[in-house]
Amino acid sequence: MSSMTKSDCKVPEKINYKEYWNIAYQKTPTEKLGWFEEKSLKTIELIQQTQLPKDASILHVGAGTSTLIDDLIAEGYTNQIANDLSEKSLVDLKNRLGADASKVTFLVDDLTNPTKLDKLAQVDLWNDRAVLHFFLTEAAQKAYFNLVKKLVKPNGFVLIAVFAIDGAEKCCGLPLQRYNETMLAESLGNDFSLITSFKYTFINPFGGERPYVYTLFKRIDV
Ligand SMILES: C[S@@+](CC[C@H](N)C(=O)[O-])C[C@H]1O[C@@H](n2cnc3c(N)ncnc32)[C@H](O)[C@@H]1O
Repeated sequence: MSSMTKSDCKVPEKINYKEYWNIAYQKTPTEKLGWFEEKSLKTIELIQQTQLPKDASILHVGAGTSTLIDDLIAEGYTNQIANDLSEKSLVDLKNRLGADASKVTFLVDDLTNPTKLDKLAQVDLWNDRAVLHFFLTEAAQKAYFNLVKKLVKPNGFVLIAVFAIDGAEKCCGLPLQRYNETMLAESLGNDFSLITSFKYTFINPFGGERPYVYTLFKRIDV
């Protein structure tokens, strides 16, 4: 994490993140959440770029109620795992999917202190949109990247889309660690090769501009 710039904001003390996120999902319908995307077009483009087969295992970390899951089911992907710290978000996602929920595995667990995720079989694709940037301590970031390294298969992919270095300093009332592709590459280490990266300005449901960096890495060790 040597080249990381520290977030300007202080980590809130004694915050119960599980409760925090559950309340966020209780208070606000999915389409009004600050991070809601009707279509996750950039993520879908990158998943297509991997050329993974439709039965590839895709782990969505901090999936929340993302409509990406519905769209990938519609495209024929059969092996998706939706993780989140908030059980409320995953219950909402499950209810929205209806009969299609049987095509998804739901896993409530903390990426920074995993008790179930760390027991998963390795996956073909790790997908994170708007999650890693909430982890502000070195311990939390280390736990996250250790889990990536444990869970991604050789020749598998890591797709991380987080707030760009010139992006907003807060999201959902929480301070953020912002990134560029070099910081992500350093944290992943030499076993992962950067396939592509680009900046993308997400327009949130209230018209605000939120610059993200999208990165796709491939695991190259064997
Ligand atoms: C800004 S939302 C993004 C949701 C989704 N990825 C999307 O793009 O719509 C961040 C998500 O990360 C989840 N999250 C936060 N901390 C987490 C943790 N430690 N482990 C797992 N999920 C977490 C939150 O509950 C929330 O659903």
